[in-house]
Amino acid sequence: MPDPRRVAILISGRGSNMRALVEKADGYDVSLVASNKPDAAGLQWARDRGLSTWSQESKGVAKEAYDRILSDTLTEYRIGTIALAGFMRILSPWFITQWEGRIVNIHPSLLPKYRGLDTHARALETGDAVHGCSVHLVTEELDAGEVLGQAEVQVAPEDTAQTLEQRVLAAEHDLYPKILSEFVSR
Ligand code: GRF
Repeated sequence: MPDPRRVAILISGRGSNMRALVEKADGYDVSLVASNKPDAAGLQWARDRGLSTWSQESKGVAKEAYDRILSDTLTEYRIGTIALAGFMRILSPWFITQWEGRIVNIHPSLLPKYRGLDTHARALETGDAVHGCSVHLVTEELDAGEVLGQAEVQVAPEDTAQTLEQRVLAAEHDLYPKILSEFVSR
């Protein structure tokens, strides 16, 4: 059984949560930053920090074939925990079974509210007074695994989806490292 404290962070874009996970790492080691987008901005930041990185474009590759390559890479790095951080790709059932109970994700809503995309606009449309973010276990059903931790953000009357997103993102950067630290030692 690989050490759960050996964490791989999977990103597709800017990687601000990845940065927070690296900078606030406590009780875990970021052993790999991996991306399905070779030009993801976050990858360069990780390289500049001297972290191990891996990337391969996922577009044009069959889902499970890609996930097998990714899984082999994670095994090579003796990864025990996978932290999705803006990884814009739905993992195959094969991959999720392979890594069952070892994959976590950050989602910008108070789950079970607003699974999927456009969470900030949806919270505003509903007229929610409180919004936020959740860290959850990844299972086959999208954004439906066990919630490991949440942070609330108050919605202001003048909020737009953009202003709300910024405040929720700041809350994500505090919540995710904290919950990941707890998760790897549970
Ligand atoms: C965040 O809003 C996160 O909640 C969602 O994707 C976004 C990733 O942003 N899963 P970043 O790449 O971490 O900056």
